[in-house]
Amino acid sequence: MKIGIYSIVLGGLLCNVASAETELSADKLAGYRQSIQAYGGALKQELTTAIKSGGAIAALEVCHLKAPKIAQQISEKAGVSVARTSLKPRNAASAPDAWEEEVLNTFEARKAKGEDVNTLEFHAVVETEGKREARYMKAIPTAEVCLTCHGSKIKPDLMEKITALYPQDKAVGFNVGDLRGAFTVRETLTAAQ
Ligand code: HEC
Repeated sequence: MKIGIYSIVLGGLLCNVASAETELSADKLAGYRQSIQAYGGALKQELTTAIKSGGAIAALEVCHLKAPKIAQQISEKAGVSVARTSLKPRNAASAPDAWEEEVLNTFEARKAKGEDVNTLEFHAVVETEGKREARYMKAIPTAEVCLTCHGSKIKPDLMEKITALYPQDKAVGFNVGDLRGAFTVRETLTAAQ
């Protein structure tokens, strides 16, 4: 009888330990999707306005200076880290970490099997060295407008500026419909989350 009670108590403890969620909650996922939408929307607006008013070279400045700033603002507002990454990054600081690289490779494989790049996403709770982190990624497809700066026929004066700003640039040679990269969100979770 005694053993029975102990095992129930022990069972309860084990259960508590194991109950730290390994799946992202629907609320968190919805929040991450919203942050990405805000980030993507703001970028698109800035880019379109800049191209219209000052052409591709002015827009390059926007991507260079404003994209990281917008990411920072949205990250602070949402209390999570929001960024972009790519297997062929322009900004070396946007190179993927090991987890992101694997997800990007999976996105390429899923795309090759016929999945729509517009809806590709992946999320997980990742545990590293006792730290739990929620991670979310959403694919970024290449549209026509992107080819001005990420395509195969970039104007020489524009390319010169790109190379001056990003000597390690890899983000060229893309075609419409290609996976350009992904939005990436991360949040450190507390034990109760
Ligand atoms: C006017 C030039 C220009 C256009 C047009 C443009 N980009 Fe970029 N893109 C850049 C620059 C510059 C960066 C580097 C920004 C930075 O320093 O973080 C960049 C970075 C990125 C990144 C972050 C990863 C990396 O490579 O550093 C992604 C993803 C991206 N662009 C996707 C797109 C998509 C999708 C479109 C079309 C909707 C697009 N870009 C249109 C210039 C451009």
